[in-house]
Amino acid sequence: TTVALVLAGGTGTRLYPASRSDRPKQFLDFVGDGSLLARTVDRVAFADEAYVLTGERYAEAVREHAPRAGVLVEPEGKDTGPALAYAARRIREQVDDAVLCCVPSDHHVDGDFATVAEHACQVAVETDGLVTMGVEPTRAATGYGYIEPADDLADGVAPVASFREKPDAETARELVDDGCLWNAGIFAWTPDAFLRECRGTPLDPIATADDPAEGFARAEAVSVDYAVLERTDDAYVVPATFDWDDLGAWDALERLTDAGLGVENQGGNAMLGDGLSIDASGNVVASDDKHVSLVGVDDLVVAAFDDRVLVVPKGEAQRVREVVSELREEN
Ligand code: GDD
Ligand code: MG
Repeated sequence: TTVALVLAGGTGTRLYPASRSDRPKQFLDFVGDGSLLARTVDRVAFADEAYVLTGERYAEAVREHAPRAGVLVEPEGKDTGPALAYAARRIREQVDDAVLCCVPSDHHVDGDFATVAEHACQVAVETDGLVTMGVEPTRAATGYGYIEPADDLADGVAPVASFREKPDAETARELVDDGCLWNAGIFAWTPDAFLRECRGTPLDPIATADDPAEGFARAEAVSVDYAVLERTDDAYVVPATFDWDDLGAWDALERLTDAGLGVENQGGNAMLGDGLSIDASGNVVASDDKHVSLVGVDDLVVAAFDDRVLVVPKGEAQRVREVVSELREEN
């Protein structure tokens, strides 16, 4: 039984101020054609069953955005590692012979997702390992994980030699030059295989406790990439042959002009929403109902949503996190 697990419990801080803690990025609808979450749930229609994995505070919103999917509520927000281990325990209790396909809800995907995902699930069953999807890198991104395949991918699968989550810029460059792939963040595994690989990691309490909720309370908050993928010797990679991007931070919009997301290239600026630019280029502008004008500035992110405005150099778009943590401390 193929079970899709859609990850939708993140707070989406890097897309502030469009993304706010009461309305994180997975619930945003940039184009008026469904939120990122709703689109993700549509994308996993190939699976026999689909669950959205999230925290209690977002459960209601998830039911609105994805009425046809089940909701699996994790005890508290502890990043993707504990969430996925907890889900593996719960699904193992409920579904016989499940193979899980874990899918984030902050991706832009274009192309034949179902074929690749079904192939990944099949490899997961055949190998009894952890299956990742590899994307050909186009830059030395620091916001992704990197997969070093042990073999070429001509046969559609290769064992993973090593995995490295979010390297610094210099290491990222080396990894790209060495032929590593980006980790798409989409995984396939059986609950037994994943829980076996959780043993001896920070997720061990969830894998081994009699009561998974009690184990969850003892587990460290850490992403699955650091907790399990960097440690396991039993991973495989299949090629992600669809167009793929992570809508993690504002600079992503620049890569998604004319991708059907409502982002347009206006005189060399990526614009979502109304605006005007004079003598300005390389900027990313996003707004709801506000008209934004740029004059004589380059390579900025300007985002204006509700009563909030953000301005940051495009090269530092990941630093939006800092704004959100300052605001949180004030509250
Ligand atoms: N249920 C649940 N609980 N979901 C969560 C939690 C949580 O505590 N934290 C994050 N998520 C969800 C997010 O909503 C998102 O859909 C997904 O998990 C991935 O989280 P991100 O925070 O966006 O991860 P990332 O983009 O920094 O890194 C991951 O994805 C990259 C590709 O998009 C890693 O897997 C990287 O290795 C990978 O390259
Ligand atoms: Mg992401």
